[in-house]
Amino acid sequence: MITAAAPPALPMRGAARGPVRWAEAFGDGPQAPLLPAEAAHVAGRPERRTRQFTVARTLARRALGQLGFAPSPLLPGAGGAPVWPDGVVGSITHCDGYTACAVAPAGRLASLGIDAEPARPLPVGILGLTASAAERAGLAQLPPGLVPWDRLLFSTKEAVYKAWYPLTRQWAPLVEMPVTVCPDGTFTTHRDGQTLTGHWHHAGGILITTIALP
Ligand SMILES: CC(C)(COP(=O)(O)OP(=O)(O)OC[C@H]1O[C@@H](n2cnc3c(N)ncnc32)[C@H](O)[C@@H]1OP(=O)(O)O)[C@@H](O)C(=O)NCCC(=O)NCCS
Repeated sequence: MITAAAPPALPMRGAARGPVRWAEAFGDGPQAPLLPAEAAHVAGRPERRTRQFTVARTLARRALGQLGFAPSPLLPGAGGAPVWPDGVVGSITHCDGYTACAVAPAGRLASLGIDAEPARPLPVGILGLTASAAERAGLAQLPPGLVPWDRLLFSTKEAVYKAWYPLTRQWAPLVEMPVTVCPDGTFTTHRDGQTLTGHWHHAGGILITTIALP
């Protein structure tokens, strides 16, 4: 079943919102037929992966259509990052219960990163692997009970990673993606002397995080 979020949950705000186009779905999500190259890519993969890949491509075509792009295969490239049509930057996320794709003209943004996670605490041990001591101390200062902050921090780091990877082409552990989460729906990260602000949202049992690099 598809449960549309209204208004859209993807927290693209401020400067990022203007050039960004997106499509998102709660629940199982729509599954339009894959293009032949995409179908070949997922042939023989587990059903869950095929479904996630298909919903993501369905939503990606909707988002790209808003930028005027006709359907074309959207395949994973180096490091798993999607190979967008020339002139486009974008990001995809899927977790149980939510899928989204955000895109923008490359002339307007350098990169985009989005991530979604179930709004449940992280499994034991993951925070220690992915967050620095300073970040873990910062989580302890946040108001208890609002959201599972450890999972939110993890999601912000994945969004930052997805935004940086297409620019650097270098794998890096999440612990090296410094993030400060704020309870007002924003987070900040630092890179090359710049402070960048992302946004987070809690909707329908899902934590959704986005960052746009200008
Ligand atoms: C790549 C990564 C960010 C994906 O995040 P995830 O929560 O597992 O999965 P999501 O559904 O949110 O995102 C998957 C999408 O991310 C995109 N993606 C994958 N690798 C990417 C990369 N290197 N750069 C940008 N986007 C990428 C793809 O579009 C993928 O969907 P698709 O395969 O259908 O095209 C994650 O697996 C990862 O490698 N993180 C960094 C490494 C790390 O330290 N991990 C620690 C885990 S304890």
